[in-house]
Amino acid sequence: MKILAIETSCDDTAAAVLENNMVLSNVISSQIDLHSQWGGVVPDIAKRAHQERIMPVIAEALRKGLNLKSKGKKIEEIIGEGMKNIDVIAVTLGPGLAIALSVGVNKSKELAIKYKKKLVAVNHIEGHLLSNWVKNSKEKPFRKIEFPALTLTASGGHTKIILMQDIGKYEVVGETLDDAAGEALDKASKLLGLGYPGGPVIERLAKAGDVNFMELPRPMEHAKNLDYSFSGLKTSFYYRIKDWPKSEVNKNLENLAASFQNAVFESLLIKFRKAVEIYRPKTLLASGGVMANLELRKRLRKLAKDNKLKIFMPFRKDLNTDNAMMIGVAGYYKALRGEFVKNIEELDRDPRAMI
Ligand code: KG4
Ligand code: ZN
Repeated sequence: MKILAIETSCDDTAAAVLENNMVLSNVISSQIDLHSQWGGVVPDIAKRAHQERIMPVIAEALRKGLNLKSKGKKIEEIIGEGMKNIDVIAVTLGPGLAIALSVGVNKSKELAIKYKKKLVAVNHIEGHLLSNWVKNSKEKPFRKIEFPALTLTASGGHTKIILMQDIGKYEVVGETLDDAAGEALDKASKLLGLGYPGGPVIERLAKAGDVNFMELPRPMEHAKNLDYSFSGLKTSFYYRIKDWPKSEVNKNLENLAASFQNAVFESLLIKFRKAVEIYRPKTLLASGGVMANLELRKRLRKLAKDNKLKIFMPFRKDLNTDNAMMIGVAGYYKALRGEFVKNIEELDRDPRAMI
């Protein structure tokens, strides 16, 4: 089954071509340069950028994935030729930014109708979960993922612990009540004057910093449930440094980054560890943009080892952050289950989609 996958839920315009769950091509046009000066994603700017980029991104994914000759051809011609070889279109329906989602959803509807293709609508979080099932064009990596699997997904938009009984069978057992883990890192980065996205820059600075420099809370640590809260952490960080002169903040950037990052990661791990004790899964999985962080990956591997469990995380860096490969794989499994969109004309984005 050849799949064209489209993802526009936030600030990446992404398309990929897959053969079942194997990636044949992966194209991402990041909008970081457009949003960084605002310290976060600006919806109107994201919408316009998605609209401008979606056709060239799809054409490039089809060209690369299907080895099409593109010299002297218009974008529409490349897409027309590529679509002949596509069986299914998979698109992110939500959750995400409404006006950004609309761009991908409308384009996928247009293509499905014009080229008479089947369409599957994918939940973005399911995409992150199934990023651990993505394979390269040589069918690697080979993974035997046993169920039940317990997954930690942490990104700019979500922080969830999900119990998976199978592909397609999910139960959210813990989640953030306010900000997501990545969002907390992004907000701390903004407070420190370090720009957006915060995760990668905080990771780089934290390497040389002292995690004990500033004592910060671990919100919800003692709550019985498996839920998270990150907005209080950000607020206490803000009050701790708000009266510091800029020079003092700048002198201590590494230590501040290390202390804040450590508080976020410890919070993530406290609840995930608790969830492992409660649900006794056979496998652990992690996904989402925050898993690009090597320190967090190291700590998760240790948690798995302590519990004599296998842990799988996305095998390439660009599979952690938003991408269309994971949407293609989630779409593949939905297509196998026959879950196609029945009335394509009426399909509408679902910014608050639940998994
Ligand atoms: O999955 P993603 O691309 O988008 C959402 O679905 O939200 O995640 C983006 C988030 C941002 O908050 C970003 O700061 C964070 O992932 N992130 C990282 C790293 N790279 C991206 N956080 C920690 N360390 C990183 N290396
Ligand atoms: Zn995401």
